[in-house]
Amino acid sequence: MPFTIAIDGPAAAGKGTISRALAQEFGFAHLDTGLLYRAVGMKGGDPVQAAQSLSPDDLARPDLRSLAAGVAASRVATIPQVRAALVAFQRDFAAREGGAVLDGRDIGTVICPEADVKIFVTASAEVRAARRFAETGEGTFAEVLEQVRARDARDMGRAYAPLRPAEDAMILDTTDLSIDAAVAKACALIAARLT
Ligand code: CDP
Repeated sequence: MPFTIAIDGPAAAGKGTISRALAQEFGFAHLDTGLLYRAVGMKGGDPVQAAQSLSPDDLARPDLRSLAAGVAASRVATIPQVRAALVAFQRDFAAREGGAVLDGRDIGTVICPEADVKIFVTASAEVRAARRFAETGEGTFAEVLEQVRARDARDMGRAYAPLRPAEDAMILDTTDLSIDAAVAKACALIAARLT
């Protein structure tokens, strides 16, 4: 039976860790949709063509988690034709038998508005920048904070599929939560919906 979980939120809020943990706990498949945008951003050339011709090799690049890939992703993600080219792949993934967790920015609002559970994971910009700084070891904390804020502004301010919680999303603020506590809350929510 398809069971879709939509996890959205800003950069480094904990979406990835929570999504992977949910997939593991409940045996669902997981798609990190940010990787699609990162791969388009890093492919170079015309972004629309890049999105239309994305290959498994593009998604296996070792530099997709870099700060530069995040910035490139949020730039190409403002282009409606880029987003449109990636919709079918994401919806097919969401509809698979056995359940799926998708994390991104517009899963609960645009890609899977009928998702069984929607969680909007957030945290203060300072806490998110500290996490991203520890994770990548790139640049200085001030530079990472600046990038997190610039990316938030671009993701929330774009005209097409902006970052915002779906009306029926549960808000999970991880500013003062350990990752274990955040994962436990999300797991409890899903367990309650599955019974
Ligand atoms: O891991 P992090 O939260 O930093 O970023 P990500 O999820 O890999 O996404 C990178 C960028 O891709 C975001 O800043 C968004 O601009 C864009 N994105 C999007 O527009 N829609 C999605 N479903 C996923 C990512």
